[in-house]
Amino acid sequence: MFDDLKGKTVVVTGSSKGLGAAMARRFGAEGMNVVTNYRSDEEGARETVRAIEEAGGAAAAIRSDVSKAECVEALYDAAMFSFGGIDIWVNNAGIEEGAPSDQKSIEAWQRVLDVNLTGVFAGCRCAINHFLEHDMLGTIINLSSVHEVIPWPHFADYATSKAGVGMLTKTLALEYADRGIRVNAIAPGTMNTSINAQKLADPEQRAATERLIPMGYVGAPEDVAAAAAWLASDQARYVTGTTLFVDGGMTLYPGFQFGEG
Ligand code: BGC
Repeated sequence: MFDDLKGKTVVVTGSSKGLGAAMARRFGAEGMNVVTNYRSDEEGARETVRAIEEAGGAAAAIRSDVSKAECVEALYDAAMFSFGGIDIWVNNAGIEEGAPSDQKSIEAWQRVLDVNLTGVFAGCRCAINHFLEHDMLGTIINLSSVHEVIPWPHFADYATSKAGVGMLTKTLALEYADRGIRVNAIAPGTMNTSINAQKLADPEQRAATERLIPMGYVGAPEDVAAAAAWLASDQARYVTGTTLFVDGGMTLYPGFQFGEG
């Protein structure tokens, strides 16, 4: 637990399920006001809010499509209306759609880039404007992926967007460091969430995935939530512009694990 988080307000985009929901719940357990956000899964967002309230936190569920800058502004306005300010903004919402690159439509490519990269920029811009206007030491966490650095066939759009998130994070961290605004990223590997449910339900695909994880098992959403809580807290006050990999070692060239090479 991180005492300084208590009473602060956090926005978590895409928090009706998966990593976003786990982070929202963790922030709730830290005693924060949590603005959860969803695009279509209203029931999931309400479930997240219920869980936070049951744990004694305060939460609101706001519908907004982060791929549209004006909707991100509306999400910010709703957060202000609900809790009167923001201290932490987590750009988590993301999508992935696999297809061979020679068959991928420009529309599909654009959809992924709009949510995963432009949406993240729009969220950062909103939060930074708020922190500057109120002369605050606010902090931003962007959800990247191991595919910030690992190329991923059939997911060229996704991997490109996550590489972009890494550079966006570093650039904004540098740009606003002297104002005390910290910008970091978390790069999860394969986690036990609905985005991976189909492949993890298939024993062969699960085994193939586990072979890519030196620690040998798929991560839990709570592992990412713990990293987010720490990065958001004052314990990480000197940390900015970094990507924290939470991946069981997936980025450590697993093919070399047993000394081959
Ligand atoms: C994706 C997962 C994938 C993992 C490792 C993540 O960014 O969301 O679907 O299993 O990367 O490839």
